Amino acid sequence: MALWGGRFASGPADSVAALSRSVDFDWRLVQYDIRVNVAHVHGLERSGVINSQDGEKIVSTLAELSREIAGGLFSYNGEDEDVHSAVERGLIAKLGSLGGAVRAGRSRNDLVVTDFKLYLIDHILEIGSLVGELVSAFNDLAEKYSEAVAPGFTHLQHAQPISFGHELAKHSHALLRDIDRIADWLTRNDFSPLGAGALAGSSLQPDPEVTARELGFSDVHRNSIDAVSDRDFVAEALFILSVIGVHLSRIGEEFTLWSSTEFGWAKIDDAYSTGSSIMPQKKNPDIAELARGKSGRLIGNLTGLLVTLKGLPFAYNRDLQEDKEPVFDSVETLLILLPALIGMVATTTFNTEKMEASAAAGHSLATEIADFLARAGVPFAHAHEIAGKCVRVAEEKGIEVHELSNDELQATDPLLTEKIRAVLSAHGAIASRSAVGATSIASVARQISHLRVEHERSQALLVTRRNAFTEMMTI
Ligand code: ARG
Repeated sequence: MALWGGRFASGPADSVAALSRSVDFDWRLVQYDIRVNVAHVHGLERSGVINSQDGEKIVSTLAELSREIAGGLFSYNGEDEDVHSAVERGLIAKLGSLGGAVRAGRSRNDLVVTDFKLYLIDHILEIGSLVGELVSAFNDLAEKYSEAVAPGFTHLQHAQPISFGHELAKHSHALLRDIDRIADWLTRNDFSPLGAGALAGSSLQPDPEVTARELGFSDVHRNSIDAVSDRDFVAEALFILSVIGVHLSRIGEEFTLWSSTEFGWAKIDDAYSTGSSIMPQKKNPDIAELARGKSGRLIGNLTGLLVTLKGLPFAYNRDLQEDKEPVFDSVETLLILLPALIGMVATTTFNTEKMEASAAAGHSLATEIADFLARAGVPFAHAHEIAGKCVRVAEEKGIEVHELSNDELQATDPLLTEKIRAVLSAHGAIASRSAVGATSIASVARQISHLRVEHERSQALLVTRRNAFTEMMTI
C-alpha cells in the first residue's frame, strides 16, 4: 500500500516501485513498528486527536495484528513499499478509514528511526549476552589451564614463558570491553526520536516525553531535525559489532594456528570441525576460519554506512533507507557465528605436555638472566649485554641458554651465581612475575576471580535491560 499519491497524476513506474521498496528487508522491524504505533496512539488520545474509544479500538487491532504476524497469518505483499505501509494496510483492512487515523502527528521519518532503535536495543542485548557466554567459556578454560606452562610469543617468535591460562584469559578482557561498549551505547542512545515528525515536531502530539517513557526510553530528543537525521547510534552499533568481529577473528586465527600439526597444541572437538571432500584424513578448523573471515563483512558494513552518511544534508534523505541492511547483516552474522564459536572454545582441549616441552625453547629465558643481574644492581643495558653473550655462547654450543652449566654462566659473568637457577626455568620465570596482571599462577588465579566478578556484573546489567525491554514490548 502506498502512503502518498494525492498530488500525483500517476503511480510510480514499476522500476521506481522496485527501487523504492524496502519491505523485503525492513519487515524485520514490524513488531517494533506496531509497538511504536501503540505508544503513538496513546499520545494522540492524550492530545484529543483520537477519542479514547477509537484509541482502544486501534490499539487492540494493533495487538491483534501483532499476534497474526507472529503466527504467520499476516505479512507484507507485493504492493507494500515498506514495513510502515504494510502495517497501515493491515490496520485499514480491519478498521476501515479509522486505521488511517494513526498517521496523524508522526511521519515515517521519526517512526523508522524509533523502530530501528528498538530493533538495535533488542539485538545488541542478545549479542551482549552471547558475548558474555564466550567470556564464561574462556574463563573456564583459563582456570583449567592456569598451571599449564607455554611459550609466550611476540612477533610470533618465542619471547617468554607464560601460564597458558593467562594466554586464554586475555580474550575475556577484550570481550568484556565489548559488553562495556554495549552498556555505554545503551546509555548514550537512551532517548526517543518519536515526536520529531517529518523534521519540525508535531502540532498534534504535544508530549513526546510521555511516549518516550512508554517505549522504555528515559529521555526524549531535544531537536527534531537532529532526531530524524541522527544515525550515530547505528554507526556506533556497527562499530561495536565490528570490534566484536575483530576479537572473534583473532580468536579464530589463534585456534587455527594452535590446531595446526606444526603447533599441535589444540584439539578442536569433532562437532566443531569439518572434513574435506577429497582428503579423508582432514579435520579442518572451519569455525575458527569463518570467525576470521566474517570480520571482513562486519567492518565492510560499518564502512559502508559511514560513507552513506558522509555529506548528507540534515533531516531525512532517502539515502537513510540504506542504513538497515548493513545492520541486519552484521547482527545476523554474529547471531550465527557466536553460538558456534562458543561451542568450539568450550570443547577444545589442549596438549599441555607439548606446550610445556617448548616453553623455554628459543632462549626464551634470556630475559631472566638480564633481570637477575638488574636485581643485583647491574644497569639494565649492561645486564642485557651479558645475557646476550650467554645466548651467543649457548648458540655456539647448540644448546638453550638455560642449559648452560653453572661454570659456563660464571665464565660469562661472575655475578651469574647458581642462585640464578631459581628463575632460570619456565616455572621459575613464571613464578617471578607475581604482580597484578602478570603471568604467575597466583596472579592468574586472582585475575580469573576478577574476570568472574566482571562477567557477573556485566550480565546482570544486560538482564535488567532485557527484562525491561521485554515488558515494554508486551502490548
Ligand atoms: N523506508 C524508509 C526508510 O527506511 C522509511 C522512511 C521513508 N520516509 C520518507 N520520507 N520517504 O528510510
